[in-house]
Amino acid sequence: KFQLINQRQDFSFGFFTGGLSNPTLVAVSNRIVFANPKAPVYPRLALGKTWNKMTVTWTSGYGISEAHPFVEWGMKGSHPVHAAADTVTFGRESLCGEPARSVGWRDPGFIHTAFLKNLSPEKEYYYKIGHRLRNGQVIWGKPKSFRAPPYPGQKSLQRVVIFGDMGKDERDGSNEYQNYQPASLNTTDALIRDLDNTDIVFHIGDISYANGYLSQWDQFTQQVEPITSRVPYMMARQREPRARFPQQRVAVQRHGLRRRVRRAGRDHVLRSYGEE
Ligand SMILES: [Fe+2]
Repeated sequence: KFQLINQRQDFSFGFFTGGLSNPTLVAVSNRIVFANPKAPVYPRLALGKTWNKMTVTWTSGYGISEAHPFVEWGMKGSHPVHAAADTVTFGRESLCGEPARSVGWRDPGFIHTAFLKNLSPEKEYYYKIGHRLRNGQVIWGKPKSFRAPPYPGQKSLQRVVIFGDMGKDERDGSNEYQNYQPASLNTTDALIRDLDNTDIVFHIGDISYANGYLSQWDQFTQQVEPITSRVPYMMARQREPRARFPQQRVAVQRHGLRRRVRRAGRDHVLRSYGEE
């Protein structure tokens, strides 16, 4: 089955003749429309600066003039509270060259982050990302949960996964232009299989192997979402200074982009130890 993920816009299919050497477009399909192209998607957790804070970051098509982003959350069995989220994005002008500024450009949508604070050690929490529209309607993401870290020094087994150099690929096997990390699906699936035995993941750099095509970041965040929405997924940048994650509010590609750090204080190797 062919898989399309929500990247905030409609899709159409083009039919070409002439092979790869002399392609000629002969037909374009009707539009394929998502139920809600702006829906909040791909939640990703990261530890805050201290052990009892968790950050939730996600992507949507809702700018702040249109809707109020927040996370509804609480300890299992207790009443939920709301944590307001902030919103950032970046434009084509942030990117320093080809192909990211031209054929590789795709609007990244909006990236939201909320801080869940005063967690209790090792308690289970539920959370749900959402946007309150001006008419009062709330557009919800799917309900998720996580377990808070232990208190520092507490006797507790912590199972840590550390890996790097993953990349991304299309799960339906389609041969997407500029895809070159098919084995990344094996890594992702192995992590998902062992999630019940995992407390935190460190992805220590060389993240998506994005190479100037912005859509690769939606695809990567979608690929790892089963992991990032359940356990803190901490990024480090390894030796490739430009290969960073939207989670860190940085526009990232291997070629043609310069990183754009939104707030000077957030330029840290690990978000866990650099955030509020
Ligand atoms: Fe690498």
